[in-house]
Amino acid sequence: PHVLLLGAPGAGKGTQSKRLAEAFDIEHVTTGDALRANKDMDISHMDTEYDTPRAYMEAGELVPDAVVNEIVKTALQEADGYVLDGYPRNLDQAEYLSDITSLDAVVFLDVSEAELVDRLTGRRVCDDCGANYHVEFSPPATEGVCDECGGDLIQRDDDSEDTVRERLRVYEENTAPVVEHYRDEGVLVEVDGEGTPDEVFASIREEVDAAT
Ligand code: AP5
Ligand code: ZN
Repeated sequence: PHVLLLGAPGAGKGTQSKRLAEAFDIEHVTTGDALRANKDMDISHMDTEYDTPRAYMEAGELVPDAVVNEIVKTALQEADGYVLDGYPRNLDQAEYLSDITSLDAVVFLDVSEAELVDRLTGRRVCDDCGANYHVEFSPPATEGVCDECGGDLIQRDDDSEDTVRERLRVYEENTAPVVEHYRDEGVLVEVDGEGTPDEVFASIREEVDAAT
């Protein structure tokens, strides 16, 4: 299947996309991870305001469409089935996406703003393998140490409270209209994103099964 997972920063897109990719044996295509892996790539030839993705990400701003569209195009060409996470983030990206692929299911993870802030400021990620934790909701067995690989757990550069607020503002301004766009098209299904990760996954899975 071709699945699009939408939601605000911290809604659980990464957490749930990994599970979906495994359950349906499809690719997890995520612009956030792709950009983090290429933070210092020189994009100055694209006539951008800053020279690297890092500068945008650390400010909580969107990386320019030309950069992100290219990442997604390449990744989707190589994928049979996929779950797309972190894209499209504005209406121009949504239009680009509709030109290069067709979607079977568009799922929106609904989470309140207070919960989003708690989740993001408490998130810790493994510096080695990228595994995701939360200091309160899903702590590792040993504080600061990855259960999976023993690596150090760190806070993402953009998970400080100020940057989180800016990311949520950018989401409201640019990405909330994308959610409305799919709602208007009649293809959006909404899932309550505030249960446990297992509960949320069960709801998403049901929707994807129903759509495919
Ligand atoms: P990106 O990496 O996409 O970040 P995001 O959208 O802000 O989403 P997050 O990864 O922060 O949250 P998530 O929804 O995946 O939640 P998670 O599962 O981790 O983008 C980062 C930056 O890259 C952007 O700001 C931008 O600069 C750039 N960028 C990316 N895509 C772009 C694009 N298309 N165009 C332009 N720029 C782009 O969960 C969060 C926390 O909550 C974790 O600690 C987790 O353990 C916990 N948690 C998850 N589920 C639950 C639950 N059910 N109950 C309790 N806790 C939970
Ligand atoms: Zn690890």
